[in-house]
Amino acid sequence: MGSHRITLILVMFVICSLVAKAVAQEASPAKEVTFNRDVAPILYRNCVVCHRPNDIAPMPLITYKDTRPWAQPVREAVVNRKMPPWHADPKVGDFINDPRLTAAEIATIDSWVRTGAKEGDPKDLPPAPAFAEGWHIKPDVVLTIPEFLVTAASQDDYEYIYVPTNFAEDKWIQAAEVLPGDRRVVHHATVSVIAADKVAKKEEENAKSNAGEDKYHYRTGRVLHIRKDAPVLDDGCSSPDGGGVPGEPSGYLNIVPGIYLPGHLAETRPLGFALRIPAGSYLQFQVHYSNHSGEDVKDRTRIGLVFAKEPVKHEIAQYEIWNNLFLIPPNADNHRVTSCFTLPKDVTVVAYTAHMHFRGKSMKTEAIYPDGKYEVILNVPNYDFRWQETYFLRHQVLLPKGTELVTTAYFDNSLNNPQNPDPSKAIRWGEPSDEEMMGFWLQFADPNPVDAKPAVAEVK
Ligand code: HEC
Repeated sequence: MGSHRITLILVMFVICSLVAKAVAQEASPAKEVTFNRDVAPILYRNCVVCHRPNDIAPMPLITYKDTRPWAQPVREAVVNRKMPPWHADPKVGDFINDPRLTAAEIATIDSWVRTGAKEGDPKDLPPAPAFAEGWHIKPDVVLTIPEFLVTAASQDDYEYIYVPTNFAEDKWIQAAEVLPGDRRVVHHATVSVIAADKVAKKEEENAKSNAGEDKYHYRTGRVLHIRKDAPVLDDGCSSPDGGGVPGEPSGYLNIVPGIYLPGHLAETRPLGFALRIPAGSYLQFQVHYSNHSGEDVKDRTRIGLVFAKEPVKHEIAQYEIWNNLFLIPPNADNHRVTSCFTLPKDVTVVAYTAHMHFRGKSMKTEAIYPDGKYEVILNVPNYDFRWQETYFLRHQVLLPKGTELVTTAYFDNSLNNPQNPDPSKAIRWGEPSDEEMMGFWLQFADPNPVDAKPAVAEVK
């Protein structure tokens, strides 16, 4: 080989490596990614709402010291989009409360961890957001149940507790949050509005059904189950009742200012939309207690309400649509259940919620319009009992009277489902969480602007 050739190769090598270096310098900015400047703002915006002391997440992610030991799991959780939690298919619907990180935010956290998870300059650290202890909203009023004793023996207990609002005028509720008094024993709590003159009758009915049973239901202790000999109907849509017990429709109206479910955050309705609590109403707290702590626990569950500060144009109510007659065979790993409900009037849809228990696998709801066109309105492809979000639409949609809502759920009653309490049992509808439910809830408003007429609730 001649020396010219060697020189040429050498020169080319030097040029190539210079170019490579320049490209590398351009691609990785001189500034390194630090906790204080780059990562903390992302955590403060998207994570500390739960990752703070005494909240639902297992560890705080506020300071560098809090976060550094979790750097690797934090990276994995955000890269895999496991956190922040969100279970609706992003291709179906555009939701105001969608907390998913942007690709740039994910890249920042990823490169922070890959480059050694540095703390950076303390001067760059923004102030941590301030939270009122417990609340994720700033309530104007808080209503609390009287102290309730949940005995150590209470494994599954539905209690109905009535609290007067003492509101002298109708109140419009923009946001609400239900806070369990003791998270160890409050499994869920649904707060509905009920007229004062209906309370006595409701209490009487509750007492009766606590003692007795009806044609389709039986009780153990204070929880309800569907009777073993009730008709089985997985395809609710094949029956005129749509999945409800014979003679009852699959959907009913309820006025629910707030609910506490696993992973369910405070609900803030879009501006102009609010829920009315008529003057003098009571709130019904339906609290599902389940005490595995081994000791007696005193609970004082409460609801915080934020009144609408802007003019309200649309009053919110909710349809709750169910299949109550399914039967999931033992070990079935993909059991299909449907419900159907035809809207009795025009509604403007504000939000959706999918509700199942541990065996719930996925849920999808389609709207079939009166003109025969149809579209998927909500898809939750990987349902997780621990995360029961309500999905608030960015643009409310009108569903005309006569639209049929077809909900299809799949259940996994096999060993593949790590949350399955017992794959060997056939499972039907029941209030305990180791039995199942199949519910699709639709928060909606009347498309006509509100007049003074208060809503009428058929609280179940
Ligand atoms: C709505 C409340 C909430 C939000 C918002 C949230 N988390 Fe979590 N996070 C939880 C809860 C509850 C758990 C424990 C249960 C679980 O792992 O599902 C958890 C678990 C984790 C874990 C442990 C995961 C594992 O694999 O064990 C990490 C890491 C994490 N979160 C990081 C984050 C980060 C980073 C953000 C923001 C980008 C965030 N979380 C936002 C509630 C939340």
